[in-house]
Amino acid sequence: MKLREKILEEIRTRGPLAFSRYMDLCLHEPELGYYSRHAGQFGKAGDFYTASDVHAVFGRLLARQFEEMWRALGSPAPIEILELGPGRGLFAQDVLAWSRKKFPAFFAALHYSLLEQSPALQERLRQTLAEHFASGKASFSGLARRSAPLIIFANEFFDAFPVDVLSAEGKLYVGEQGGNFVESWAPAAAAELEYLDRYGIHPEGKQRVEVALPAQRMMEEVAAAISTGFVLAIDYGYTRAEQLAGRYLDTLVTYRRHSAGSNPYEAPGEQDITAHVNFTALAAAAEDAGLHLQKLLTQSQFLMGIGEANQFADAFEECRLPQEQAKVALQLKHLVTPSGMGESFQVLMGSKGVPTETVEGLSGLSFAKSRLQAG
Ligand SMILES: C[S@@+](CC[C@H](N)C(=O)[O-])C[C@H]1O[C@@H](n2cnc3c(N)ncnc32)[C@H](O)[C@@H]1O
Repeated sequence: MKLREKILEEIRTRGPLAFSRYMDLCLHEPELGYYSRHAGQFGKAGDFYTASDVHAVFGRLLARQFEEMWRALGSPAPIEILELGPGRGLFAQDVLAWSRKKFPAFFAALHYSLLEQSPALQERLRQTLAEHFASGKASFSGLARRSAPLIIFANEFFDAFPVDVLSAEGKLYVGEQGGNFVESWAPAAAAELEYLDRYGIHPEGKQRVEVALPAQRMMEEVAAAISTGFVLAIDYGYTRAEQLAGRYLDTLVTYRRHSAGSNPYEAPGEQDITAHVNFTALAAAAEDAGLHLQKLLTQSQFLMGIGEANQFADAFEECRLPQEQAKVALQLKHLVTPSGMGESFQVLMGSKGVPTETVEGLSGLSFAKSRLQAG
């Protein structure tokens, strides 16, 4: 059965679905959802690309930051990195390869865990990281609370969580008429209105605003899994202050073959549906669950902080010819500069059980801090 039929059938039996339920089915329904169906979404040949598709330097700089975090924790063995939503495993591959090459003591202590819900992507991860699965260095894992030190990493993970949509008319539901999806509105729940009070704005007129409660619940679980360690969540997103200034009200977007669209009802399961991350809401969930947070950074500030000390040597390691250097310089520029991913992506860093001064010494925070002092 096609996903479209399945969703229509659910609407006929249960009545109109909250948009978050519709989005969840589109993305994650076993075998039929966008992420569950196959592993061909990513990269040039797919629908969208992420930082690790641009260049291995993204994973290499993060390996450098993880190694510093490990030392900040007192160089414990073992140290676990848990990556959330690793997709095809490119990032994990880059982190593991670079750690083995540049930070052997860290690599020896490291265990790399993966939390990926899509069976098709799990299969792909088994292939990409075959060597590390075979040696026991990498494995799949859940979010149970650890007593040992843990670093949790998530790139473009929270943007794949279902959102609800609210307008002045209430909360968005997806119904059916003559075999087509139709939108309708019904009163929102108290928790959703409270979310807007605290982390967003109340929409007026035809405005639409997203409510991301599932992402908040996931962040609570993430924070609860750590007794000592760090969280790093990187994503495109916004803050409440930006919404108050009238931006980022309707961020729901679809991706198919690298074109962005705005109709989530077209081809369910065959296109990505994603919403920008509300970092004010995500940060509040993290803090309520006991994480100590750093000020939100741009990806640009974060990567500059890690890479500037050695002038991004991690990017240029294999370059022999000037043409190769020029190509890598462009890829690096795309990751770091505002015109690329540098300003649209933000970095949320949290820690638990680590002294504040130690956390504040991390290189990822240094660039933003030096600017603050200079300014
Ligand atoms: C946009 S992709 C990003 C993949 C990868 N992090 C990257 O940067 O290329 C989102 C990933 O999160 C996974 N995912 C979404 N919700 C999840 C959940 N609740 N538990 C585990 N994985 C999830 C998806 O299957 C997909 O692999």
